[in-house]
Amino acid sequence: MSRGQRSWRRAGWSLLVAAALSCGATAQSIDEKAAMNGSEDYQRAVEAWLRGLEPKVIGGKPATAGQFPWQVSLDVSWISDLYRAHFCGGSIYADEWIVTAAHCVVGTRPQDIVVTAGTTDLTTAGVRRNVKEIVVIKGYVGARKGKDIALLRLFEKLPLGPQIQAIPLVEAEGFEDATRFTVTGWGATSQGGRPVRQLQFLENLPHVPLLQCNRPLSYDGAIKPDMVCAGFAQGGVDSCQGDSGGPLTVHTEQGERLAGIVSWGEGCGQPLKYGVYTRVAKYADWIRACVASSLTCERR
Ligand code: ARG
Repeated sequence: MSRGQRSWRRAGWSLLVAAALSCGATAQSIDEKAAMNGSEDYQRAVEAWLRGLEPKVIGGKPATAGQFPWQVSLDVSWISDLYRAHFCGGSIYADEWIVTAAHCVVGTRPQDIVVTAGTTDLTTAGVRRNVKEIVVIKGYVGARKGKDIALLRLFEKLPLGPQIQAIPLVEAEGFEDATRFTVTGWGATSQGGRPVRQLQFLENLPHVPLLQCNRPLSYDGAIKPDMVCAGFAQGGVDSCQGDSGGPLTVHTEQGERLAGIVSWGEGCGQPLKYGVYTRVAKYADWIRACVASSLTCERR
């Protein structure tokens, strides 16, 4: 080891120790420290685990096994309790590809995430897969700026069956005013609450036209054409923390289709503060290009 490397190491360690002392944890090795960094949702799960907090869709109902076979949980790979490890949702696009939100995985390394499929209950392991590659779309800067989409390529294919299925993307980019969506997730069932063990679903969630979602008392112009809003003006029914990355689906004659990705919102279930989702159809070509060749699609 050269002298330069050695002093870099020493500086690295003192930073680590300072960081460890400041958050009240025990000293960690350099690798462990890296494993604790990641997206905000990833860190939320890590911090709740460090603090020993009990982990946890507002107004939803528990899902039954196989009801949403495309839903997966993204988990912190080194936290063994699945419920505590959960930090985001995702949807199966193909046997080795998961669609999720960019904000869930940005800044996180593939080895720090495990994908769990085939279960509605975060006490039962289901089928677990390591991540080979994280593909965040080019130009992503933050959920509120749009482009909140990423793909995870799995090391091994998922065994598709009754409990594990891919969901096709919706074809149309626009939605009729009367469209009703379904959203699912293990996220908090109250604003500021913790994720839950049993997958929850919300159905008949009304589509909110962009004009309405952009009104001054809602998001006052912040909603971009690549976002979809859904919810009730009076609030009370919404996705929430921990649901991010998960599916917003629409029922068509051909079956259920992926219409959105849980992205952001001001609080959860607040009046006029609808849930904001990534408009997946806008990224259908991008998804197909990445699945065909992840190295040449437009990635960050
Ligand atoms: N960003 C949140 C997450 O990390 C999802 C927020 C959705 N919020 C809402 N009000 N619909 O899980």
